[in-house]
Amino acid sequence: MGFENAFFELSAGTPEQLPVSELPEIVFSGRSNVGKSSLINKVLNRKSLARVSTKPGKTGTVNFYGLGFCRLVDLPGYGYAKVSQSEKLRWAGLVEGYFSSGRKIRRVFQIIDVRHEPTPDDLQMIHFLDSSDIPFSIVATKCDKLKKTERGARSESLYAAFPGVEILFFSALNGEGTEKVRERIMGSV
Ligand code: GTP
Ligand code: MG
Repeated sequence: MGFENAFFELSAGTPEQLPVSELPEIVFSGRSNVGKSSLINKVLNRKSLARVSTKPGKTGTVNFYGLGFCRLVDLPGYGYAKVSQSEKLRWAGLVEGYFSSGRKIRRVFQIIDVRHEPTPDDLQMIHFLDSSDIPFSIVATKCDKLKKTERGARSESLYAAFPGVEILFFSALNGEGTEKVRERIMGSV
């Protein structure tokens, strides 16, 4: 089975709803509105399998997409100020529940906006992945929004901030980096 035959498996809104995991899982994590769902759609070559919105805070559940040989996991985005405190707590509980449920997490793609410095939440997540020995790559997305010179400066700054970490450059708009992410998924499961 290739990337074309992906199907929506389920949404979990509470840790109890997280499905039992036997399949390897590939996780997409990052700030709200950073482009996680858009990246998943691009990689799967599907227009709207994962729901995308101009309104941040769209994905409030852990969403699972089956590929047969593995699952792609779209985590709820963090860091959106306008979400209520109780929603934030629910999301944090969900994400913690996800990572602590003994799953076969083969790789996390930690997605950041190429235009901005990583936020404290991003750094906390990266530190967590690093200290938990979970393989991860940083994906700098929305690369279409930068001019060449800006792009050079941002990539230098990212390489300097995260030495030894794989950094992939991506755009859901023009497709840059799609093949690299696919290769990384195939090489991780
Ligand atoms: P939540 O589900 O709220 O956590 O957001 P998300 O991280 O899943 O982001 P989503 O994919 O819904 O995209 C948010 C917005 O960014 C949408 O308006 C997308 O069209 C836009 N977007 C996503 N990726 C890119 C990209 O590579 N380039 C550009 N220009 N816009 C993008
Ligand atoms: Mg989303």
